[in-house]
Amino acid sequence: MGRDRASIKDVARVAGVSVGTVSNVLNRPEFVSEPTRQRVRDAMNQLGFVRNATARQLRAGHSQTVGVVVLDLANPFYTGIVRGIEDRLAEDNHLLMLCSSDENEDRETRYLRQFAEQGVRGILITPFGNLNERFDILTNLQIPVVLLDTHSPDMACVSVDNVKGGRLAVAHLLDQGHRRIALFNGPLEIQQCRDRSAGTMAAVYEAGLDPAQVVVEVALRDLTSEAGAEAMAALLDSDEERPTAVFCVNDIVALGVMRALREHDIAVPEEMAVVGYDDVPVIKELRTPLTSVRQPMHDIGWNAADLLLTGKVKQVRFSPELVVRGSSDYHR
Ligand code: RIB
Repeated sequence: MGRDRASIKDVARVAGVSVGTVSNVLNRPEFVSEPTRQRVRDAMNQLGFVRNATARQLRAGHSQTVGVVVLDLANPFYTGIVRGIEDRLAEDNHLLMLCSSDENEDRETRYLRQFAEQGVRGILITPFGNLNERFDILTNLQIPVVLLDTHSPDMACVSVDNVKGGRLAVAHLLDQGHRRIALFNGPLEIQQCRDRSAGTMAAVYEAGLDPAQVVVEVALRDLTSEAGAEAMAALLDSDEERPTAVFCVNDIVALGVMRALREHDIAVPEEMAVVGYDDVPVIKELRTPLTSVRQPMHDIGWNAADLLLTGKVKQVRFSPELVVRGSSDYHR
């Protein structure tokens, strides 16, 4: 006979709170202070608690539905990822449930628990925040989890070498003669943003230059075209020495940058070269097509779903490639 599943009463006992408080943490976390929420979460993780254990137990491993959590569905990068997931799941007659964490840890945790309570076959997730802190939640769900577009030595995951991607983008700009390059980056809680910044600095060092002189780092409020446009407008209005090139953390940000440059009558690439990241389809259609670092979106999704369905716990790693177009190449 397997170990009895932890109940809400067990969690309350271990956490030293009432059953009602545990219920609030599950259903109305805003009514519970963060220290108490954390104590309850720690108790849940310690006990491997999952609500509706009986229902989930009946369905565990038999569901043909997979839960998918990405950062933001509005980003077409995830369209390519999800299509790859869908194509692999369809081979085994599986379906997916899809949602965005919006870079919010509480929202992400709520989806994870909902998927676990639904008894999904497993979860594919692009986690937000410190992976070590999320690791307990992910591994204590008692259902398979595969990380999407994120590397971890301890979990099944599919990722891209974003340090190489950042290095490719900035080495290209340095080769074009740029010596003052803006880096429009997202929150460093996102592993992909950290790695693209590291690749940027590596390219500058490898060119024998000083990042403090060459790179102007701009922290975006979020990874949207609006944020890119606002940041570029602020840069153009600044009294600081103007960069001659900008490397954007993704194509959506780069589209906003291109709009701001158009609105300020700044010629691309002559007055400002622009490089994006992802190589989403729409960027080829621009009047000045965008140079970008291509990620194998479909392959990322397909392989993550394959790891989940086959139960392989391994790390799949892809290499990005630079696709040079008119937004950074003067000779086009
Ligand atoms: O989600 C933020 C970014 O990280 C996406 O645009 C894509 O580049 C991913 O790797």
